[in-house]
Formats: sequence, structure tokens, C-alpha cells
Amino acid sequence: MAERRPIVGGNWKMNTTRAGAKQLCDSVLRGFTERKIDTEVVLYPPYLWLTDAGDLINASSIKLGAQDGLTEENGAITGGINLTMLSEVIDALLIGHSERRNIFNETADKFSRQLIAASDLGLLRTYCVGEDHTQQETGSTYEVLAEQIGSVFAGEEGEQLSHSIDSNPPSFVIAYEPVWAIGTGLVAQPNDVQDRAEFIRAEISKYCDVSDLIRIQYGGSVNQKNADELAALTDIDGALVGGASLNAEEFLAICEAFSTNSR
Ligand code: 13P
Repeated sequence: MAERRPIVGGNWKMNTTRAGAKQLCDSVLRGFTERKIDTEVVLYPPYLWLTDAGDLINASSIKLGAQDGLTEENGAITGGINLTMLSEVIDALLIGHSERRNIFNETADKFSRQLIAASDLGLLRTYCVGEDHTQQETGSTYEVLAEQIGSVFAGEEGEQLSHSIDSNPPSFVIAYEPVWAIGTGLVAQPNDVQDRAEFIRAEISKYCDVSDLIRIQYGGSVNQKNADELAALTDIDGALVGGASLNAEEFLAICEAFSTNSR
């Protein structure tokens, strides 16, 4: 049986003050040590608080991630922060989040470069996919998921990506986040989440030999009340948590729900 260690991410998005971020890190760290949490845990604070967060959690097994990062080399890009800089501080990178796709009009071109660059820098990569409300209503969810996955495995870079995953399966995570469930309080039906995760795994198997070892998170209004039900799904190996990750107790309760045996 394949071994997939559950993984829970806290995507803080554009939230927290500096003091609030430090306090949140501190509370998560304390609760993480006190409770029996055996999931992999990754915190994604805003850029500005990454070093503060890193100073607090460095001695623990909690990982630190960035919500984005450029793949360009150092140079004349005013306001830019690249992965080379970030890799001095972070362990993980979020890629392809729907808010990057929709607010910043980012596309697969950038995501595939990030997926490869992050691998070269030894970072854990989480690639986010998911259909929006209209796509769900018009029944094109599976088509959308196939396109979002297929597009980063296209061409020569795609081959490089496949190779990087086959040689290190735990370094690549997929987050299935239906856009209509993000920040809305609406959670996808567990049966649907399971079906979509199975579909995602089957799609990954077209490009990688290790799809059974790839961890799939669910994201979209995850909270401590719905976490148990999601954690029970065969093909769901964790959660990517937005709003609820801003509350240490709630986030830790979600981590605890996924602290079951590896699959
Ligand atoms: P919410 O948990 O706030 O719905 O956000 C989910 C998400 O976008 C995590 O990346």
C-alpha cells in the first residue's frame, strides 16, 4: 500500500499584522507540540512576515511556505521577489492558486516554470486546481481539472516536471480547491470531493509513474467541523486552509483531524 503522509497547509493570504503573525505562529507552534499532530504542517504567511515566522518555527518540524514567487533571475524587476531569494527562508511554495489565476491573470506558463524551479531549489510544491462556479454549473469540472493538470505537463518542461515528481513524489502536492467553495462557507459534497480526487490521481498517472504516492489536499471552507468527514475520504490526504488557518485552535483541530495513519 502506498504511503502518503497527510499534509495540512495554512494559507494566510493577505492577512495579519506583524505582531499578529508572530502570535499566530507562536500559538500554532505551542499547540502543535502539545497535541498529537503527526501531519506535515506548512504555514504560508505573507512575504513580509516570512523571516519572523521562520525564526519562530525553525526549530520545529512545521514548514514555512510562500504564496507566490517569481522564477526570473535577479535583475531589473521592481517590486519582484524571486524563488532564489525566497529559498533562503522557505521550504515550500504555493503554485497556481485560483486567486493568482483570477486576480493576477497568471497562467500555466508561469506555473510550470515555478514547479520546476521550486524542485531545483528543493522546495515542496503545492499546485492548486479547481473549477469555478460557472464551470461547475455547466458540468465542465473534469474538463477544467484535466486542462489545469495537463497544461503544466506539456512540452519539454513537462517532461522535466514528470521526472522531478517521479524521483521525489512527496515533493509534489495537488490542492483541489473548487473556487466556489473558497471563503464562501460552502464545502463540496464529500462524494464529489472523493470523485474529483480520484480523477486528479488518474490524470496525474498519465504524466507520472508515482500517482499513488502523490498527496491530494482539499481546500475551500475547511473548518474544524467538516475536517473529520474530509479526512475520511480515501483519496484526500490533507487540507489547504484559508480563513480557518488564521485561528490557531481551529487550524490545529483541522491538523488533528488529518492526523490519522498515513495511507
Ligand atoms: P478558505 O479556507 O478561506 O475557503 O480558503 C481556501 C483557500 O483558498 C486556501 O488556499
